[in-house]
Amino acid sequence: MDSIEEKFLKLGAEFAPGQEVRQKTKEVELRGEKISGTPVDFSHGDVDAFEPIPGSLDVFIEGVHLGGKQAYTEYRGSKIIREKVAEKLSDFMGTTINPDLNFIITPGTQGALFLAMGSIVSRRDKVAIVVPDYFANRKLVEFFEGEVVPIQMDYFKSDSAAGLDLTQLEDSFKAGVKLFLFSNPNNPTGVIYSEDEIWRIAELAQQYGVTVIVDELYSRQIFEGRAFTHLCAENIVDPENVITIMGPSKTESLSGYRLGVAFGSAKIIDRMEKLQAIVSLRAGGYSQAVMKSWFSEPEGWMEERIAQHQAIRDDLISKLRAAGGFEVRATEAGSYLFPRIPDLGVPINEFVKILRLQAGVTVTPGTEFGPQYIDSFRINFSQNHKEAVDAIDRVIQVVEAYRNEHVR
Ligand SMILES: Cc1ncc(COP(=O)(O)O)c(C=O)c1O
Repeated sequence: MDSIEEKFLKLGAEFAPGQEVRQKTKEVELRGEKISGTPVDFSHGDVDAFEPIPGSLDVFIEGVHLGGKQAYTEYRGSKIIREKVAEKLSDFMGTTINPDLNFIITPGTQGALFLAMGSIVSRRDKVAIVVPDYFANRKLVEFFEGEVVPIQMDYFKSDSAAGLDLTQLEDSFKAGVKLFLFSNPNNPTGVIYSEDEIWRIAELAQQYGVTVIVDELYSRQIFEGRAFTHLCAENIVDPENVITIMGPSKTESLSGYRLGVAFGSAKIIDRMEKLQAIVSLRAGGYSQAVMKSWFSEPEGWMEERIAQHQAIRDDLISKLRAAGGFEVRATEAGSYLFPRIPDLGVPINEFVKILRLQAGVTVTPGTEFGPQYIDSFRINFSQNHKEAVDAIDRVIQVVEAYRNEHVR
């Protein structure tokens, strides 16, 4: 019989994004029995739990049959596909994307982030990033030897805004920030920036000549029909100041094809294309073919997906709230929850190890998103519904055991 640890290794879970959180587990001492159940890796979504866009494999294979024509596209991506996607994306974003001038297809949204950052950031440039936000943002600034300027987001302050500290943002712009990079919807909290916040960011960027990169990877999966303001939308901001990033990895379960896009400032997109021509030449040609199905899903497909995710979210939140001691802000978009957990008496990194060993559940410690999140973890609930609910029961059980231990 495999141990939970061995089962995880077989699942290939050690290759998940953020794998650096997957620390050696040998040294923790478990108190109490192991809790059995199907291992669940909440550190990323389970692409097998949800169907990708119907027909995406067929378009991929059609691409393969096109051979060289599809394999060797322009560096910024196949013209036909750019045209098709730019049209659909323009409608979705409320802007005009010119497939020849200001649009590029990249290897994953991550590829778009890397190219955008590499095209803008030089050594010692001040780059404002939100805390908490996607952990790659900080790593990218550090890699390009920019100076990280953290801007706090108090996501528990209100339910009607993300809680970005706009005064701190303005002060940072005054102090010479060149670039502001943020995700909306936010990873790890799943919150959406309010219209007022987006307008203020746009105003400040305009006033201080700051470039903005906004990563909207999760913007198609919005719960309860909440309003979402695209920073790039007409009349909000000068398009030459903004790069918007998007992709079908998460909300369409197409992560394995490694596809993303960026659009906005033609000048920056040109530089991104030059960088892409050095780094990878282009996004995988056959994969690009899959983009033909993006935004062309059968009617109701996305709505159904949103409803399924919302149902998982609701079950997990009600369990956490019923357990007491957890503080949870409901996810507004995407599939992350970033709950505050009760005081446990073990550091969060150790708790994460314990959880894996004792309950077969992997979560990402809050400290991956900022040193102050010692009392939080992130879960991606894009999982098999029942397995996710069972896993949360086990998380609560382990928390209870350690919380009681501590209080006694
Ligand atoms: C906010 C954000 N941007 C980008 C990425 C990378 O996505 P992709 O698989 O499209 O490269 C992720 C992945 O978790 C993410 O959460």
